[in-house]
Amino acid sequence: MTSSPDLASLYQMLAKEQRPILPSGEQRAILGCGYVGEAVAKAWKQEGHQLWGTTTRRERLAELAELVDTPVLFDSTDSHSSLSFTESLDGILVSFAPSKTSHVDINHYRETFLGGLQMLADAIQQRPRETPLQLVHLSSCGVYGNRHGALTDESVRLDSLHPVNGVLAMAEDMIQSLRSESVNVCILRLGGIYGPGRDIPAMLLSAAGGVVQRNGQSVPCWIHLDDIIRGVSFAFEHNLNDTYNLVNDTQCTGQELTDRLCEQAGLPLAKWLTIDTTDRVLNARVSNAKLKQLGFTLTQPSMVG
Ligand SMILES: NC(=O)c1ccc[n+]([C@@H]2O[C@H](COP(=O)([O-])OP(=O)(O)OC[C@H]3O[C@@H](n4cnc5c(N)ncnc54)[C@H](OP(=O)(O)O)[C@@H]3O)[C@@H](O)[C@H]2O)c1
Repeated sequence: MTSSPDLASLYQMLAKEQRPILPSGEQRAILGCGYVGEAVAKAWKQEGHQLWGTTTRRERLAELAELVDTPVLFDSTDSHSSLSFTESLDGILVSFAPSKTSHVDINHYRETFLGGLQMLADAIQQRPRETPLQLVHLSSCGVYGNRHGALTDESVRLDSLHPVNGVLAMAEDMIQSLRSESVNVCILRLGGIYGPGRDIPAMLLSAAGGVVQRNGQSVPCWIHLDDIIRGVSFAFEHNLNDTYNLVNDTQCTGQELTDRLCEQAGLPLAKWLTIDTTDRVLNARVSNAKLKQLGFTLTQPSMVG
């Protein structure tokens, strides 16, 4: 008797397979080769594309040269920086974000996102008008704010209360304004990112038997790094020109998620708080149906099991 194949493991295996090198790879740039940008660069290199990748740090250029053909210094807060190197490219992934600090400086956020997108707009203006370009911009489901756990698709009004969400929404508007007959603009709103080196399940499990200092009644959303890489590639392959949530299937509260993780690991439950400890709250059951309707599949649909 033959054993029936487990589809989830088959998908995982296929996702790990090396992709064939394309005889005619495209010319693409990754603006911000951080956690996600680096991983996309590795995947795209395997697919045979010619790559440009940016960092703000001169000392990272040599390391970046291992990942991309042309490493570039780019800092959107530096008026001497320019994205003119993108003028003749086929595709651009916008994946820069302010470097993480414990304190969020809203002016720095504004300068980083909006300043950088203005530089991109200036570069795109210099392109021959009819040259096709695919843009993919990584935004965040944080823009939905506190929807009290309501089912949330891409059409709902964005949160206008928190200033960070205001900046992210403005960034989305700016990138959308670059859309034209020859320029496709795809916005992917990501859930909280986890994956190698950002092991959120392990972090949650480490609270077993203790207290998580966050409101466990809110519904966050998540996406694994592998599925971001697949989502970005999907957007390029299908010339997407719209806004999509890129989140996994888990639509439960923080408390429910930790309960399931702890139960599965045979550990005592962790208790979350029941009040907000931050003024920027995401509490929404974010739907990924729009992207799935196009045929997109997840390799990591849940953080649990
Ligand atoms: N982290 C999450 O859970 C999450 C959730 C939703 C959406 N997102 C979005 O997903 C994207 C990728 O996130 P990530 O986790 O890969 O970010 P990351 O690891 O922090 O990387 C950010 C990249 O942006 C670059 N950068 C920082 N300041 C810059 C500036 N002023 N000008 C130009 N580049 C600058 C960094 O340069 P260096 O190489 O010099 O460090 C780095 O390459 C971001 O757009 C982020 O907003 C993230």
